[in-house]
Amino acid sequence: MKILVLNGPNINMLGIREPDVYGVESFNDLLVLLEQTAKEENIEIMQYQSNHEGCLVDKIQDAYGRYDGIVINPAAYTHTSIAILDALKAVGIPAVEVHISDVANREAFRQISYPGMYCEKTITGQGIQGYRMAIQYLKEKYA
Ligand code: DQA
Repeated sequence: MKILVLNGPNINMLGIREPDVYGVESFNDLLVLLEQTAKEENIEIMQYQSNHEGCLVDKIQDAYGRYDGIVINPAAYTHTSIAILDALKAVGIPAVEVHISDVANREAFRQISYPGMYCEKTITGQGIQGYRMAIQYLKEKYA
């Protein structure tokens, strides 16, 4: 099984950005967690992070026919990007949305998720462990 993990803008700043909101674990800690999860679950995981909406759309399109699942934290694009929603719908790959923080208990502008309208599950407020949970969900359902 092959899973693509996509991260949007500022996720590369984990550990530095607002640690009270996003935790003290770094982006590198997330990459290590993904590697460990791939080994434990015996699956292939590819991670891609970009601060640019179109690059994320390109990666989703490239995933067509190549990946069995997508785990996506679109970060701020969650709340604005119909383009990412449309790309997910276009490729039709099962997807889970992850948010490190508990977005439901944050600002009103964070209460809409466009990519979430496609994703079959959303995991929020679990820190970087949310990625592992999303991967395990996809493996259990689709491997
Ligand atoms: C986030 C929540 C978003 O509202 C925010 O813009 C982010 C990160 C999260 O993981 O909690 O950049 O997606």
